[in-house]
Amino acid sequence: MEEHVMQGAELQSMLKSNVNFVGLGGVDDETLHLSEEEMKWWRDAKFGLFVHWGVYATIGKGEWVYFNDKISPEEYHRIAMEEFRPNRSAQEITDEWLSAARDAGMKYAVMVTRHHDGFAMWDSEHSWQGFTSANYGPKADYVDAFTQSCRRYGLYTGLYYSPMDWRFPGYFDPQGEPESAQCMKEQAYGQLRELCTNYGEVKIMWYDGGWLAHNGSDGDAAWLWEPLKMNHMIRDLQPGILTTPRSGYKGDFQCDEGPREVVGAIVPIPWEKNMTISTAWGYRPNDRYWNSFDLIQMMANVICRDGNFLLNVGPDANGCFPDEAKQALGEVGEWLRENGEAVYGTRAGIWQPVDRVYGSTQKGSTVYLHVWDCAAFAECVLPNVTGKIVRVERLTGKEISFRQDENGVKVYLPEELAADRRPDTVLRIRMDK
Ligand code: GLC
Repeated sequence: MEEHVMQGAELQSMLKSNVNFVGLGGVDDETLHLSEEEMKWWRDAKFGLFVHWGVYATIGKGEWVYFNDKISPEEYHRIAMEEFRPNRSAQEITDEWLSAARDAGMKYAVMVTRHHDGFAMWDSEHSWQGFTSANYGPKADYVDAFTQSCRRYGLYTGLYYSPMDWRFPGYFDPQGEPESAQCMKEQAYGQLRELCTNYGEVKIMWYDGGWLAHNGSDGDAAWLWEPLKMNHMIRDLQPGILTTPRSGYKGDFQCDEGPREVVGAIVPIPWEKNMTISTAWGYRPNDRYWNSFDLIQMMANVICRDGNFLLNVGPDANGCFPDEAKQALGEVGEWLRENGEAVYGTRAGIWQPVDRVYGSTQKGSTVYLHVWDCAAFAECVLPNVTGKIVRVERLTGKEISFRQDENGVKVYLPEELAADRRPDTVLRIRMDK
């Protein structure tokens, strides 16, 4: 019998959640599938940094500015040469990113190595027209600096790569301009090979924009990219590397992109919420930023639905993290230093989340309740569970009274907790097994 692959509306309905996965419907090859063991480090890590930084940061209108503002290639090259000149060394820049990420409690980081504008942030031999940070303004290899910083600060290394490139007419009209499309494809294979060969271990290839002419799905463009061949190539170079679905291959985890609130049931497949801490992925001055309260709540909502949280920062022209981002990340880090045991290494818990009220995670015989609205929670009786609850306590060890019977589980929040407005109040529940 032919394998039935759920996609589109059918999968969305099965998910019973409002997550909106980009890049569904990719082509598949079982020999590319990773085992649970190979995915484990990523599922345990939970929280990662995404960085969008490139020539566009000097313009300050987001990472799509080349396309949106119809900047001419000559002008964009001029900006890359004359204006994209950070006042610090590559290593200083990426050390700042990765030390901030470590202090925020992030366990992996994904850097944009080349966005759709075609500018490679490393010394790339296969870059069409040699459009690289090594040849232009900065005269630096940022992928080299970034991967070194990841190792220095103990985060797993991920690289974002966009196979598509606006500089090629073949991107917009692959049938009418087949040679140009072929040239773009060769650049992608050559550059992916460089990224997976020259910088030590890479754990994630975060593909983006596999579609053609900004149209259709990533899977629709598989005839051009041959994503199975592409991913076999990178797997040969980096065994166990995880991929997003956006090369047109179905990938190892799904992506829910954007700041939309996450509600609904636990999502039964590996997934990642990726969003930016301001309103644009690439830097924009005077942008609005998320505060730590909302970020912590978003993260808790994601992990209680078994997802990972990839949070983007767009550094400014000099590669600096904006102050608002630094402050919010610092506060998230403080929260994680106290509550990290309810996050890292956990899986979605035995209780389905109740939107905006509570959710749960678990590790072995310990369950963590994440309460987002203590007043509403005080009214709730949780559905009963099969195991026997031995003790309910705060992470400090302070005991909390509860009752478990055939009607369910009632947790009696102490006054001081019920009155407090925190982003996520964590309770530890010890089960007998
Ligand atoms: C969207 C944007 C792109 C950004 C990506 C990050 O695809 O178009 O600019 O890099 O999201 O997930």
